[in-house]
Amino acid sequence: MLTRVASPRDKRALKNLYEGSMYKEMPRLVKGALNVDCERVIVVEGQQKILAAIYNGACGYEHLWSSYLVFQDETAGKALVDFLMKAREERGLRNLYVFCPKEFVNTRVHLILRGFVPECIRKIDEIEYIVENHDGTFYPKYQITAPIEAFSVNLRKAESKDSGTLAKILYESLPEDFATAEDATGDVRWWLTEMPEYIIVACTPNNLPIGIILLTPETFPVLDENLALLNYIAVDKRFRGRGVGQALVKEACNVLRKNGKHSMEVDVDAHDISARIFYTKTGFYPFWFSKNYMPHDDGIFYRIDF
Ligand SMILES: CC(C)(COP(=O)(O)OP(=O)(O)OC[C@H]1O[C@@H](n2cnc3c(N)ncnc32)[C@H](O)[C@@H]1OP(=O)(O)O)[C@@H](O)C(=O)NCCC(=O)NCCS
Repeated sequence: MLTRVASPRDKRALKNLYEGSMYKEMPRLVKGALNVDCERVIVVEGQQKILAAIYNGACGYEHLWSSYLVFQDETAGKALVDFLMKAREERGLRNLYVFCPKEFVNTRVHLILRGFVPECIRKIDEIEYIVENHDGTFYPKYQITAPIEAFSVNLRKAESKDSGTLAKILYESLPEDFATAEDATGDVRWWLTEMPEYIIVACTPNNLPIGIILLTPETFPVLDENLALLNYIAVDKRFRGRGVGQALVKEACNVLRKNGKHSMEVDVDAHDISARIFYTKTGFYPFWFSKNYMPHDDGIFYRIDF
């Protein structure tokens, strides 16, 4: 695969690539660039075909912007992101922004792994973009582990006899959220008393609790009465990567939908790469970035609509 600047002879191939994609037609900016300023379009070529393209340009405040990412082949799309990261660095520009369509889940995971943080969400011509930003300071060291075979998980309401096991899972999984095991026990008991329908438990077929999700049917401040909050989700370490977390989120959406909710939000530490990948893969999208929101980190707010 070769990543290079486009040339006028790529026009037909690019037209086909865009027409066959969610953009449905070649964007005006790309068309214009092919006529006058080809450097603004970067393509990936392989097997004598154009596999991916992106429009980019340094405009204003020394930022490099890019949009209209399109690809036939996911690897080619990722190569474009890496090419632009290098270009930002070589040209001494301050930030690289990528307008990434919300649907490009694997590309969004790639951006997370490259140290991008989402800034905001923009809707242009019916396409929703997550605007991802990289300022060259954050390169996460992270390896995706191979998926483990899924297994059948039972979901049910929590019972008071589960509280010890659930508190242990919460405390061990989220040490920054709970100072002591007693804090976690207190929260589980409170939920069981006050909002038992909003605490969902994942169990093994022999009814052993291995995961928990705690929800609140409203946000504080109340921003939208159809909106709920995901307070905590945790899966016993021994059972991670088998679809338990995803099953809990799915069930949470079902429960909330029955209670008149349409969306759920969660805030995540910007450096918590695992959680950000998990939420991205599970159907959440980032919609807000808040500098220094967490005690030692920036906060990224994710939402899922159902
Ligand atoms: C986050 C957590 C709840 C995920 O639970 P899980 O049961 O391991 O997640 P799943 O197996 O359902 O994973 C769903 C998807 O996310 C991906 N994923 C989950 N954890 C991941 C990780 N650490 N790295 C990369 N991908 C991950 C899975 O590969 C899967 O993607 P796929 O559908 O393409 O296979 C669990 O890791 C956990 O308890 N972590 C500690 C507590 C925590 O961080 N909670 C969230 C804080 S806001």
